[in-house]
Amino acid sequence: MIKKENFGSSFKWGVTLSAFQNEGAAVADRKGPSIWDAFSSDTQNINNGDFIGEASDFFRRYREDISLAKSLNFGVFRLAISWPRIIPDGYGQVNQSGIDFYNRVIDTCLEKDLEPWLTLYHWDLPQALEDKGGWTNRKIITWYSNFVDICVQAFGDRVQHWVVMNEPMTFTGLGYFMGYHAPMRKGIGNFLPAAHHATLCMAEAGRIIRSASAKNEIGPALSCSYVRPYNHRLINIRAAKRVEALLNRFFLEPLLGLGYPTDVMPVLRVMERYFQPGDEDKMSFDFDFIGLQYYFRVVAKFSLSPPLLFAKEIAPNTRKSNLNVMNLDVHPGGMSKLLKFYASYPQIKKLLITESGVCYPDFQVARHVHDVRRMKYHQKMLKQVLKAKKKGVPVEGYFVWTLVDNFEWREGFEPRFGLVHVDFDTQKRVVKDSGLWFQDFLK
Ligand code: BGC
Repeated sequence: MIKKENFGSSFKWGVTLSAFQNEGAAVADRKGPSIWDAFSSDTQNINNGDFIGEASDFFRRYREDISLAKSLNFGVFRLAISWPRIIPDGYGQVNQSGIDFYNRVIDTCLEKDLEPWLTLYHWDLPQALEDKGGWTNRKIITWYSNFVDICVQAFGDRVQHWVVMNEPMTFTGLGYFMGYHAPMRKGIGNFLPAAHHATLCMAEAGRIIRSASAKNEIGPALSCSYVRPYNHRLINIRAAKRVEALLNRFFLEPLLGLGYPTDVMPVLRVMERYFQPGDEDKMSFDFDFIGLQYYFRVVAKFSLSPPLLFAKEIAPNTRKSNLNVMNLDVHPGGMSKLLKFYASYPQIKKLLITESGVCYPDFQVARHVHDVRRMKYHQKMLKQVLKAKKKGVPVEGYFVWTLVDNFEWREGFEPRFGLVHVDFDTQKRVVKDSGLWFQDFLK
C-alpha cells in the first residue's frame, strides 16, 4: 500500500484546471473571444457535436470547486488565466473585471489554505491575435511578454508559483500542424515558427517573472510520452528515437540551453530559418522546475511518411493496449522510466507531475459515481512516482487532471477526467470513488 508519508513532507499534492475547459462565461464582463470560443461555437468542429455552453461553470462556481479541492485534502490549486479575459484583444486595453475575477479566485484559494499555481497559457489565444498570425507571428513575443507582465503585476503579491505555458507541443502540433485543434492550421510552415516562438515566449516569461521576485518558482508544463519501437529492428529503433525527440525533447532541450534535438532529427536545423540573432541564448532560462504531463504510450515504426519524421505510430487499437475513452494507450509503467529519463539532465533541478489523469467510463448508481479504474490508475501512477523517487529522481509533486469533469477540447464532454462528477445539465457535483480515495489517502 502506498502512503502519503512515503513521498515526504515537502511533496505537493494538487489539482489542475484550465480556463477554457472550466470557466464558461465566454462573453461575461467584457471577455474577448479566444480561438477556442471561435472553434467550438461551430459545434460541427466538436466530435460528438457538443456545445460548450457554460462548461463546468467555474466562473460562477469557483468557490464551490475550491472548497471541493480542499475537502479532498489537496494543497495546490493550479488554474489557468484566460488571456482574452485579461486583455480582450490580446494586446490592448486591460480588462479590470477579468483581473478582479482571478483576484477573487486567488483570494478564495488563500482563504482555504490552498496554494494557487497560475498557468499563463492553456491554449485560449485571443482571436484578435490569431487574426494577425497568432503563434506564427514573431510579434507574439511582445504580446505574450506584455500579458505575462500584467499578470505578474496583478497577482504577483499573492502568487509565487508560475507555469509559463501548458503543453506547447500539443497546441502547436494539433493546432498549427495537424489542423485538429483551434486554430485549425496545418503544415510544417505554420508549426515550426509557432513552436519556435512558443519556446522564446516560455523563456521570456521566466525572465519577467523572475525579475519581479527572486522568490517566484517558475517552470513550464510539458507533455511527454513513453515511446517504444515496434520491434528491435534498427530502422524502427531509430524511428522511435525521432518520435521521442519530437514528443519529449523538442521544447525541453532549447529551454535548458541545449538547442533543438538535431542529433536524431537533423532536419530540425530548418528551425534556424526562424531564428534572429541572439535567439540561441534567449531560448533558455534557468527554471526552478520542469512540469511533466504523461497521458499515453506511443509505439512507433519507420515509415516514409510524414517525410520529416519518417516514423509513424502503430494505432493503439490495433495492438495490445489498455485504451481510454479517447483510444489512447494508458500505460502507467512508463512513468518511472520517463522520470528517470528527465532526471538524467543535469540542468533539471526539480520535476513535478503537473497533470496526471485518465478518462474511463464512470458508473452512476443512485447518488454514487463509481470509477474504480480511475482510482487504480492514480494508485499505479503514484507507485511509479515513488519508485523513481526512491531511486533519487527529484520529483516533488503530483497534480491530478482534473478536479471536476470538464470540456475535453475537440472531444466535447464525453471523456471525463474528474475526481468529481458533473451533471452538465444541472452543474451538480458528486465526488467519485477516486475523489474519495484521494480524500482518505491525503488526510
Ligand atoms: C491538457 C488538458 C487535457 C488533458 C486530457 C492535457 O494534455 O493539458 O487540457 O484536458 O490533457 O486530454
